[in-house]
Amino acid sequence: MKEGELKCAECGRTWPVRGGMPHLVFPEELQGDDARSRELWDRIARFYDWIAALTGVIQGVNGAEVQRDLIARLDLRPGRAVLETAAGTGSNLKVIAEQMGDQHTAFGLDISPRTLTRAARKLRDFRPPPELVVGNAAHLPFADNVFDAVLDGYGIKYYSDKGRAIREMLRVVKPGGKVVITDLGLPPEKPRSFRQRLLLLWIPGFADGSPIDLIPDDVKDLKLEWDAHETAYTIEFHKAGTYTNP
Ligand SMILES: C[S@@+](CC[C@H](N)C(=O)[O-])C[C@H]1O[C@@H](n2cnc3c(N)ncnc32)[C@H](O)[C@@H]1O
Repeated sequence: MKEGELKCAECGRTWPVRGGMPHLVFPEELQGDDARSRELWDRIARFYDWIAALTGVIQGVNGAEVQRDLIARLDLRPGRAVLETAAGTGSNLKVIAEQMGDQHTAFGLDISPRTLTRAARKLRDFRPPPELVVGNAAHLPFADNVFDAVLDGYGIKYYSDKGRAIREMLRVVKPGGKVVITDLGLPPEKPRSFRQRLLLLWIPGFADGSPIDLIPDDVKDLKLEWDAHETAYTIEFHKAGTYTNP
Protein backbone atom coordinates (compact mmCIF):
# COMPACT_ATOMS: atom_id res chain seq x y z
CA MET A 1 0.00 0.00 0.00
CA LYS A 2 1.29 3.49 -0.89
CA GLU A 3 2.44 5.90 1.85
CA GLY A 4 -0.03 8.65 2.69
CA GLU A 5 -3.46 8.28 4.15
CA LEU A 6 -6.68 6.36 3.80
CA LYS A 7 -9.83 8.46 3.70
CA CYS A 8 -13.23 7.17 4.73
CA ALA A 9 -15.55 7.86 1.78
CA GLU A 10 -18.53 8.26 4.14
CA CYS A 11 -17.25 10.37 7.06
CA GLY A 12 -14.14 11.94 5.50
CA ARG A 13 -11.95 10.78 8.40
CA THR A 14 -8.34 9.93 7.48
CA TRP A 15 -5.95 7.25 8.70
CA PRO A 16 -2.18 7.18 8.10
CA VAL A 17 -0.42 4.62 5.91
CA ARG A 18 3.19 4.20 7.05
CA GLY A 19 5.76 1.63 5.96
CA GLY A 20 3.13 0.26 3.54
CA MET A 21 0.71 -0.49 6.41
CA PRO A 22 -2.56 1.26 7.27
CA HIS A 23 -2.70 2.37 10.92
CA LEU A 24 -6.31 1.75 11.87
CA VAL A 25 -5.99 1.92 15.63
CA PHE A 26 -9.09 2.41 17.78
CA PRO A 27 -9.30 4.18 20.12
CA GLU A 28 -6.68 6.54 18.67
CA GLU A 29 -5.24 7.24 22.14
CA LEU A 30 -4.57 3.76 23.51
CA GLN A 31 -5.14 3.33 27.25
CA GLY A 32 -3.86 1.02 30.00
CA ASP A 33 -2.63 -2.44 28.97
CA ASP A 34 -3.03 -1.68 25.26
CA ALA A 35 -0.74 1.37 25.43
CA ARG A 36 1.74 -0.61 27.53
CA SER A 37 1.62 -3.55 25.09
CA ARG A 38 2.42 -1.39 22.11
CA GLU A 39 5.35 0.18 23.92
CA LEU A 40 6.64 -3.22 25.14
CA TRP A 41 6.31 -5.01 21.78
CA ASP A 42 7.81 -2.14 19.81
CA ARG A 43 10.77 -2.29 22.20
CA ILE A 44 11.33 -6.07 21.98
CA ALA A 45 10.23 -6.69 18.38
CA ARG A 46 13.73 -7.46 17.14
CA PHE A 47 14.26 -10.11 19.84
CA TYR A 48 10.82 -11.68 19.63
CA ASP A 49 11.66 -14.65 17.38
CA TRP A 50 14.46 -15.61 19.79
CA ILE A 51 12.17 -15.21 22.80
CA ALA A 52 9.58 -17.46 21.13
CA ALA A 53 12.21 -20.10 20.30
CA LEU A 54 13.53 -20.14 23.88
CA THR A 55 9.99 -20.30 25.25
CA GLY A 56 9.43 -23.44 23.13
CA VAL A 57 12.59 -25.00 24.60
CA ILE A 58 11.37 -24.34 28.15
CA GLN A 59 7.96 -25.78 27.24
CA GLY A 60 9.72 -28.87 25.85
CA VAL A 61 8.02 -28.66 22.45
CA ASN A 62 9.08 -28.56 18.83
CA GLY A 63 7.96 -25.06 17.83
CA ALA A 64 7.52 -25.87 14.13
CA GLU A 65 5.29 -28.86 14.95
CA VAL A 66 3.19 -26.85 17.39
CA GLN A 67 2.74 -24.19 14.74
CA ARG A 68 1.74 -26.70 12.03
CA ASP A 69 -0.82 -28.33 14.37
CA LEU A 70 -2.19 -24.92 15.31
CA ILE A 71 -2.63 -23.81 11.73
CA ALA A 72 -4.16 -27.16 10.73
CA ARG A 73 -7.04 -26.24 13.08
CA LEU A 74 -7.99 -23.37 10.75
CA ASP A 75 -9.10 -25.77 7.96
CA LEU A 76 -7.35 -23.65 5.35
CA ARG A 77 -8.19 -24.15 1.67
CA PRO A 78 -7.25 -22.10 -1.36
CA GLY A 79 -9.68 -19.23 -1.77
CA ARG A 80 -10.42 -18.80 1.93
CA ALA A 81 -9.84 -15.58 3.87
CA VAL A 82 -7.96 -15.72 7.17
CA LEU A 83 -7.13 -13.14 9.84
CA GLU A 84 -4.48 -13.46 12.50
CA THR A 85 -4.94 -10.99 15.37
CA ALA A 86 -1.72 -10.21 17.32
CA ALA A 87 0.21 -11.42 14.28
CA GLY A 88 3.53 -10.18 15.71
CA THR A 89 6.57 -10.85 13.54
CA GLY A 90 4.56 -12.96 11.09
CA SER A 91 5.71 -16.54 11.79
CA ASN A 92 2.17 -17.96 11.67
CA LEU A 93 1.25 -15.88 8.62
CA LYS A 94 4.27 -17.31 6.82
CA VAL A 95 3.01 -20.87 7.35
CA ILE A 96 -0.53 -19.79 6.41
CA ALA A 97 0.69 -18.21 3.14
CA GLU A 98 2.84 -21.28 2.36
CA GLN A 99 -0.12 -23.60 2.85
CA MET A 100 -2.58 -21.52 0.83
CA GLY A 101 -0.31 -20.69 -2.10
CA ASP A 102 -1.35 -17.83 -4.38
CA GLN A 103 -5.05 -18.30 -3.60
CA HIS A 104 -5.06 -16.76 -0.15
CA THR A 105 -6.48 -13.68 1.40
CA ALA A 106 -4.50 -13.46 4.62
CA PHE A 107 -4.51 -10.49 6.96
CA GLY A 108 -2.33 -9.92 10.02
CA LEU A 109 -3.21 -7.28 12.60
CA ASP A 110 -1.06 -6.13 15.51
CA ILE A 111 -0.92 -3.16 17.83
CA SER A 112 2.86 -2.83 17.46
CA PRO A 113 4.08 -1.28 14.18
CA ARG A 114 7.61 -2.56 14.76
CA THR A 115 6.61 -6.21 15.05
CA LEU A 116 4.65 -5.85 11.80
CA THR A 117 7.62 -4.21 10.09
CA ARG A 118 9.54 -7.40 10.84
CA ALA A 119 6.60 -9.48 9.61
CA ALA A 120 6.60 -7.53 6.34
CA ARG A 121 10.25 -8.50 5.77
CA LYS A 122 9.49 -12.16 6.45
CA LEU A 123 6.53 -12.14 4.07
CA ARG A 124 7.77 -9.93 1.24
CA ASP A 125 8.47 -12.82 -1.19
CA PHE A 126 4.93 -14.21 -1.10
CA ARG A 127 2.66 -13.41 -4.02
CA PRO A 128 0.35 -12.01 -2.89
CA PRO A 129 1.96 -11.08 0.46
CA PRO A 130 -0.41 -11.17 3.45
CA GLU A 131 -1.88 -7.74 4.22
CA LEU A 132 -0.61 -6.18 7.45
CA VAL A 133 -2.67 -3.73 9.48
CA VAL A 134 -1.70 -1.84 12.62
CA GLY A 135 -4.73 -2.09 14.89
CA ASN A 136 -6.24 -3.11 18.21
CA ALA A 137 -7.66 -6.65 18.51
CA ALA A 138 -10.51 -5.30 20.64
CA HIS A 139 -11.60 -2.89 17.84
CA LEU A 140 -11.05 -4.75 14.57
CA PRO A 141 -11.14 -2.48 11.50
CA PHE A 142 -12.97 -5.05 9.35
CA ALA A 143 -16.58 -5.51 8.25
CA ASP A 144 -18.83 -8.21 9.75
CA ASN A 145 -18.74 -11.80 8.41
CA VAL A 146 -15.72 -11.52 6.08
CA PHE A 147 -13.20 -14.17 7.25
CA ASP A 148 -13.45 -17.94 6.98
CA ALA A 149 -11.19 -18.32 10.00
CA VAL A 150 -9.59 -16.14 12.70
CA LEU A 151 -6.49 -17.10 14.67
CA ASP A 152 -5.33 -15.36 17.83
CA GLY A 153 -1.86 -16.73 18.59
CA TYR A 154 -0.37 -15.85 21.99
CA GLY A 155 -1.87 -12.34 22.04
CA ILE A 156 -4.95 -12.49 24.23
CA LYS A 157 -3.22 -12.34 27.61
CA TYR A 158 -2.03 -8.83 26.69
CA TYR A 159 -5.42 -7.35 25.78
CA SER A 160 -7.04 -4.90 28.17
CA ASP A 161 -10.51 -6.12 27.14
CA LYS A 162 -10.30 -9.83 26.31
CA GLY A 163 -14.08 -10.32 26.17
CA ARG A 164 -14.48 -7.54 23.63
CA ALA A 165 -11.62 -8.97 21.53
CA ILE A 166 -13.35 -12.38 21.43
CA ARG A 167 -16.64 -10.76 20.41
CA GLU A 168 -14.78 -8.89 17.66
CA MET A 169 -13.27 -12.15 16.34
CA LEU A 170 -16.81 -13.56 16.22
CA ARG A 171 -18.15 -10.46 14.50
CA VAL A 172 -15.68 -10.58 11.61
CA VAL A 173 -15.77 -14.37 11.04
CA LYS A 174 -18.47 -15.70 8.70
CA PRO A 175 -21.44 -17.69 10.05
CA GLY A 176 -20.14 -21.22 10.64
CA GLY A 177 -16.52 -19.99 10.37
CA LYS A 178 -13.78 -21.01 12.80
CA VAL A 179 -12.06 -19.10 15.63
CA VAL A 180 -8.89 -20.49 17.24
CA ILE A 181 -7.31 -18.85 20.29
CA THR A 182 -4.09 -20.15 21.77
CA ASP A 183 -1.81 -18.83 24.49
CA LEU A 184 0.49 -19.79 27.31
CA GLY A 185 -1.42 -20.54 30.50
CA LEU A 186 -1.83 -22.89 33.44
CA PRO A 187 -4.74 -25.23 34.08
CA PRO A 188 -6.47 -24.15 37.31
CA GLU A 189 -6.14 -25.96 40.64
CA LYS A 190 -3.26 -28.29 39.81
CA PRO A 191 0.14 -28.45 41.49
CA ARG A 192 2.77 -26.69 39.36
CA SER A 193 5.38 -28.80 37.60
CA PHE A 194 9.07 -27.83 37.42
CA ARG A 195 8.57 -26.82 33.75
CA GLN A 196 5.61 -24.60 34.61
CA ARG A 197 7.55 -22.90 37.40
CA LEU A 198 10.50 -22.29 35.08
CA LEU A 199 8.21 -20.77 32.47
CA LEU A 200 6.65 -18.55 35.15
CA LEU A 201 10.07 -17.11 35.89
CA TRP A 202 10.66 -16.54 32.15
CA ILE A 203 7.27 -15.02 31.32
CA PRO A 204 5.48 -13.33 34.22
CA GLY A 205 1.74 -13.25 33.51
CA PHE A 206 1.83 -16.74 32.09
CA ALA A 207 0.01 -17.87 35.28
CA ASP A 208 -3.30 -16.75 33.74
CA GLY A 209 -5.90 -19.43 33.17
CA SER A 210 -7.72 -19.68 29.86
CA PRO A 211 -10.40 -17.14 28.87
CA ILE A 212 -12.95 -19.95 28.28
CA ASP A 213 -15.54 -18.21 30.51
CA LEU A 214 -15.52 -15.22 28.15
CA ILE A 215 -16.67 -17.22 25.11
CA PRO A 216 -20.30 -16.33 24.30
CA ASP A 217 -22.88 -19.13 24.84
CA ASP A 218 -24.15 -19.21 21.28
CA VAL A 219 -20.96 -20.58 19.63
CA LYS A 220 -20.82 -24.16 18.28
CA ASP A 221 -18.36 -27.04 18.90
CA LEU A 222 -16.50 -25.25 21.71
CA LYS A 223 -13.31 -27.10 22.75
CA LEU A 224 -10.54 -26.30 25.24
CA GLU A 225 -7.33 -28.35 25.17
CA TRP A 226 -4.23 -28.04 27.30
CA ASP A 227 -1.00 -28.92 25.52
CA ALA A 228 2.77 -28.40 25.62
CA HIS A 229 3.07 -30.25 28.97
CA GLU A 230 0.17 -28.15 30.28
CA THR A 231 1.87 -24.82 29.65
CA ALA A 232 -0.48 -23.68 26.87
CA TYR A 233 -4.13 -23.96 25.92
CA THR A 234 -6.03 -23.85 22.66
CA ILE A 235 -9.69 -22.89 22.45
CA GLU A 236 -11.58 -23.40 19.22
CA PHE A 237 -15.18 -22.91 18.19
CA HIS A 238 -17.41 -22.10 15.22
CA LYS A 239 -19.64 -19.08 14.92
CA ALA A 240 -23.33 -20.03 14.92
CA GLY A 241 -24.91 -20.33 11.47
CA THR A 242 -24.37 -22.31 8.31
CA TYR A 243 -20.98 -22.09 6.67
CA THR A 244 -20.91 -21.43 2.94
CA ASN A 245 -17.78 -22.92 1.40
CA PRO A 246 -16.07 -20.40 -0.88
C1 LIG B 1 3.54 -13.17 21.98
S1 LIG B 1 3.32 -12.11 20.60
C2 LIG B 1 2.52 -13.22 19.46
C3 LIG B 1 2.99 -13.06 18.05
C4 LIG B 1 2.53 -14.12 17.04
N1 LIG B 1 1.10 -14.30 17.01
C5 LIG B 1 3.20 -15.44 17.29
O1 LIG B 1 2.50 -16.44 17.51
O2 LIG B 1 4.41 -15.50 17.21
C6 LIG B 1 1.99 -11.11 21.19
C7 LIG B 1 1.59 -10.01 20.23
O3 LIG B 1 0.37 -9.42 20.71
C8 LIG B 1 0.37 -8.08 20.26
N2 LIG B 1 -0.68 -7.33 20.97
C9 LIG B 1 -0.72 -7.03 22.30
N3 LIG B 1 -1.85 -6.33 22.57
C10 LIG B 1 -2.54 -6.20 21.40
C11 LIG B 1 -3.80 -5.61 21.04
N4 LIG B 1 -4.59 -5.00 21.93
N5 LIG B 1 -4.18 -5.70 19.75
C12 LIG B 1 -3.41 -6.31 18.81
N6 LIG B 1 -2.21 -6.88 19.09
C13 LIG B 1 -1.79 -6.85 20.37
C14 LIG B 1 1.80 -7.63 20.56
O4 LIG B 1 2.13 -6.45 19.89
C15 LIG B 1 2.59 -8.87 20.12
O5 LIG B 1 3.04 -8.74 18.78
